[in-house]
Amino acid sequence: MDSIKKYQEKIEQALIKKSYGSHPKELYDPIEYIMSLGGKRMRPVLVFIGCDFFGGNVEKALHPALAIELFHNFTLMHDDIMDNAPLRRNQTTVHEKWNNNVAILSGDAMLVRAYQELCKSDVAVLPQLLNVFSDIAIKVCEGQQLDMNFEKLQKVAIPEYLKMIALKTSVLLGGSLKIGALLADATESDAQKLYDFGKHIGIAFQLQDDILDVYADAEKFGKQVGGDIIANKKTFLLLKALEMVEGNRFMKEELQLWLNAPHFDPAEKVAAITSIYNFLNVREIARHEMQKHYDIALTFLNDISVEQNKKNELIAFADSLMVREV
Ligand code: IPE
Ligand code: IPE
Ligand code: MG
Ligand code: MG
Ligand code: MG
Repeated sequence: MDSIKKYQEKIEQALIKKSYGSHPKELYDPIEYIMSLGGKRMRPVLVFIGCDFFGGNVEKALHPALAIELFHNFTLMHDDIMDNAPLRRNQTTVHEKWNNNVAILSGDAMLVRAYQELCKSDVAVLPQLLNVFSDIAIKVCEGQQLDMNFEKLQKVAIPEYLKMIALKTSVLLGGSLKIGALLADATESDAQKLYDFGKHIGIAFQLQDDILDVYADAEKFGKQVGGDIIANKKTFLLLKALEMVEGNRFMKEELQLWLNAPHFDPAEKVAAITSIYNFLNVREIARHEMQKHYDIALTFLNDISVEQNKKNELIAFADSLMVREV
């Protein structure tokens, strides 16, 4: 865990020194704002770990790590507009504090800044990094659009949901590790195994995010609890519940009523759907699904021949995600 803290500090220090631009302030203030709100800085940590895993020089990983964190925060700024979210990291979201247009344009500028940051990487690997980065970025967009499409659908099969979260969330975790691996001149096959490890950890991570959206301690979580329920997000919990109420007419009607209600009291809807989840125990089923992907992730890690202590670092990181409350 020590090295994780060390990497987090490294990224935090570098972020403090960064300036994104100043004029017009409506473009740059929101970038400064969201970047300074903290966050776990997991993805840049994964770039460092991926690089160290294959014996690379982690100093070379700083620019790509910053690029990834900028990109991640850009996706959050736009995601909060799309999800109509009032809170991010315990603070007002950018589109609420300013407005939607500001959040759209500042987000766009962040994506450009992310590319500029990436372009400061070692030229020997830059083409590969640009390739991976762009591939991840387009996949995140695909996942985000599927997430929006699914809100409007009555039914989504769980494998489709898993593909959607792999795109919107997991490829960025896997890609962060892969970028780290490429910086260390790992073989394509080893870098890919690390990517697949990250991808499955990312699936477990998003499942946990779905669970926390319903069950988190609001203070710690820093996001609106129940937001997914209010928006009819097709989370694992909802899809499992929809599957399980098939044989229970009363509960099926109750759930459908809430999902199709054009007007409702948000707190009432969250309470009603949460009690259906509780009754069906879908939280436990979701945890089971998380465990499944954690185990799959480990099979990819086991397949890479590096020293066990390096693997332990990644396992400790994955373990901390499995029990996260934020
Ligand atoms: C939030 O990511 C977006 C998801 C993919 C669920 P994080 O939970 O990593 O957010 P921060 O950066 O730590 O705030
Ligand atoms: C976010 O999924 C994925 C991306 C930001 C690309 P969520 O919408 O669940 O993330 P949070 O819960 O708002 O952080
Ligand atoms: Mg979203
Ligand atoms: Mg969201
Ligand atoms: Mg969420």
